[in-house]
Amino acid sequence: MNYGHFDDKNKEYVIETPKTPYPWINYLGSDKFFGLISNTAGGYSFYKDARFRRLTRYRYNNIPLDNGGRYFYIKDEKEYYSPTWMPVKSQLDSYECRHGMGYTKIKTMKNNLKTEILYFVPLGDNVEIHKVKIKNIDEKSKKFTLFSFIEFCLWNAYDDMTNYQRTYSIGDVEVEGSTIFHKTDYRERRNHYSFYSVNYPIDGFDTDRDAFLGQYNGLNEPEVVTKGESNNSIVSGWNPIASHGIKLELAPMEEKTLVFVLGYVENDKEEKWDSDNRMNKVKAHHLINKFYDEASVKEAYEDLKNHWNNLLCKFTVESHDDNLNRMVNIWNPYQCMVTFNMSRSASYFETGIGRGMGFRDSNQDILGFVHQIPEKARERILDIASTQLEDGGAYHQYQPLTKKGNHEIGSGFNDDPLWLILSTVAYIKETGDFSILKEDIPYNCDINNTGTLLEHLEKSLQFTLNNLGPHGLPLIGRADWNDCLNLNCFSENPDESFQTCDNKKGRTAESVFIGGMFVYIGKELAQLYERLGLDKKNQEVLSEVDKMVQCIEVHGYDEGWFLRAYDYYGMKVGSIENNEGKIFIEPQGFCVMAGIGIDNGKALKALDAVDQYLNTKYGLVLLWPAYGKYHLHLGEISSYPEGYKENGGIFCHNNPWIMIAETRLGRGDKAYEYYSKIAPAYLEDISEIRKLEPYVYAQMIAGKEAIRHGEAKNSWLTGTAAWNYEAITKWILGIKPDFDGLIIDPCIPKEWNNIKIKRVFRKATYHITIKNPEHICKGVKKVFVDGREQHSNYVAAFEDNLTHEIEVVMG
Ligand code: GLC
Ligand code: GLC
Repeated sequence: MNYGHFDDKNKEYVIETPKTPYPWINYLGSDKFFGLISNTAGGYSFYKDARFRRLTRYRYNNIPLDNGGRYFYIKDEKEYYSPTWMPVKSQLDSYECRHGMGYTKIKTMKNNLKTEILYFVPLGDNVEIHKVKIKNIDEKSKKFTLFSFIEFCLWNAYDDMTNYQRTYSIGDVEVEGSTIFHKTDYRERRNHYSFYSVNYPIDGFDTDRDAFLGQYNGLNEPEVVTKGESNNSIVSGWNPIASHGIKLELAPMEEKTLVFVLGYVENDKEEKWDSDNRMNKVKAHHLINKFYDEASVKEAYEDLKNHWNNLLCKFTVESHDDNLNRMVNIWNPYQCMVTFNMSRSASYFETGIGRGMGFRDSNQDILGFVHQIPEKARERILDIASTQLEDGGAYHQYQPLTKKGNHEIGSGFNDDPLWLILSTVAYIKETGDFSILKEDIPYNCDINNTGTLLEHLEKSLQFTLNNLGPHGLPLIGRADWNDCLNLNCFSENPDESFQTCDNKKGRTAESVFIGGMFVYIGKELAQLYERLGLDKKNQEVLSEVDKMVQCIEVHGYDEGWFLRAYDYYGMKVGSIENNEGKIFIEPQGFCVMAGIGIDNGKALKALDAVDQYLNTKYGLVLLWPAYGKYHLHLGEISSYPEGYKENGGIFCHNNPWIMIAETRLGRGDKAYEYYSKIAPAYLEDISEIRKLEPYVYAQMIAGKEAIRHGEAKNSWLTGTAAWNYEAITKWILGIKPDFDGLIIDPCIPKEWNNIKIKRVFRKATYHITIKNPEHICKGVKKVFVDGREQHSNYVAAFEDNLTHEIEVVMG
């Protein structure tokens, strides 16, 4: 069942009913000021850090679920309603929400009054615009009052929801003309404030939530709205809000536009107060003036659209498959940018107060956005590398504000360091910027202890070699990519975290998955050394890689697939010998991606086993059979009910590893089958089952053993975005940046032919046409560059600001 449709031309998803199976959200903002907004205008805004600078309040897991946002109410002589449906939920005569690139537009109609509200954050300014256009299409003129509503958060989102003995006494506002200033704590240590303003004279306002709603009312029936008059309340402590009351009259066919501006201002310490010892509002006045007239708002909106068009034009595909086109051209890269901005902090599943930035997550995210914003990727890589420890290990997370490693969670996730190599090599292959390797950066953020990035990478690889177990396979530590496979944790205390509790000492539990990673990523590093002319290092790494391949083939594979691990007792995990968890997806993906077993049939068998045991109609489950009870020696993985999360859920992050592995075997049909099973656009028709947004990936879809097979959870902030982008663009469509050019090596379904790709790569534009006259999955017979045949599928990096025509004939 559909709840909307894609509008590809405008790069929008159009939602046709407010009653989606779950709030379907979008993100506003691209630099410092951010907002989350649902299809009924729910959500919140923050400046840089969703915990420490939360501007508006949001109650997660509220009743109803998504109750709180940037709301408007319209009250006429007879009734009142919300033009975004929530929170009043009166029946509207029409409804449409368009989520676009960095903006959301909600258009509705009731009683012949049309309302269109555009929400966006302009580039370069710390404001959120709510542009409200109202048109009377009645034959009679209409009189009504428009009320705005937002609820301020008292900055620190965690205190705001836990420390009422303090927060109920500190709320502070000031009203000046049509602007409501939120200035809690400004008199002491804070030098920032926010404001909500409108470019229209107001007839009243409210800043006290109780005065606006009435002590016992919900947002669906504010007293002020029901009676049609603002109270002009000034809050003192309790709960500050901002509501404007504006009386309007519209003649038949008359239209009015009002611009509301939610802004954030920081003053220098010396400029905190004006000459009258009042809060310095100069910057706020500037912002309010800047967006006072409609024309400047329009211009800012156009700038935002151009910004996104520029980001998204770096890689586009034109094919017979609309879903493929819209995923590759619009929604997948858009989601990758959101993961760049948010990491795993703020979504409708992540509260913005819990997690810092993950070392492994952030490195993997880079794969998805490096071609869009290479400079930012560079900066991110250096930030991440600066938190690395001297022995090559890594803090599992770091804090975006301080950019320091997080002591609470610490280190010991033994896959972490290797991901830094992967992101750095991807960056260099995209940009050709080898200079990044010479950057001198700290270990553990200590500026007195530094090394070049290349040395950091070397230490990353060495970390694995320094931590090998009895079979010569890498020790798993607290966990590897699978945070929940905790083989040393033995936790019996429900009050402790599986990720941070004391682990048993011992160097036995090994990860075949890290082994596969080591081979895949080790080869990348070896290639880099070779390109740098460091032949000895290249040889050293390749010889370690070979040893690891041997170990995996001997100790990491049993009957028909790669094992997952050896546990603390040296017993196999993910083996045919196990009753539960016989086969895991991760090592099948990474080992085959790394090329292990391709020449001797082991890889083929492993991928066939994936198809046989892990494949479902909604994607590939992480393991099978799911654990039916808690196993002390396996940890969190067995704590989840069967079929959910890491215990046999379809963990979308690792499905693309299998797609990539399939392309290594040349099975384009299979790779595409797996791609289309989880790429959200293809699932639009089953939105009632999947529940979440059909335009973005979710972390997890309930697996075949789950009660709600096919139901997705945790959309938006997941490594799934980057890896699926990697799988489809580099391995299926087969356009792979390399140190000196593009390798073009598609692996596609047999029926595909005439795929056109535009790739902007190092200043040149490549128009690539893939022809497949013999209908095969893989293999390139001929390559023409600007009409001239060349003998390999390695197309040079021209770096000449020109456009080049590339024709690739498969065969
Ligand atoms: C979550 C984590 C990621 C981890 C994955 C599997 O997505 O953010 O770091 O690899 O779960 O446990
Ligand atoms: C939990 C989740 C896992 C996530 C981890 C992050 O273990 O199940 O998916 O990676 O928390 O800390």
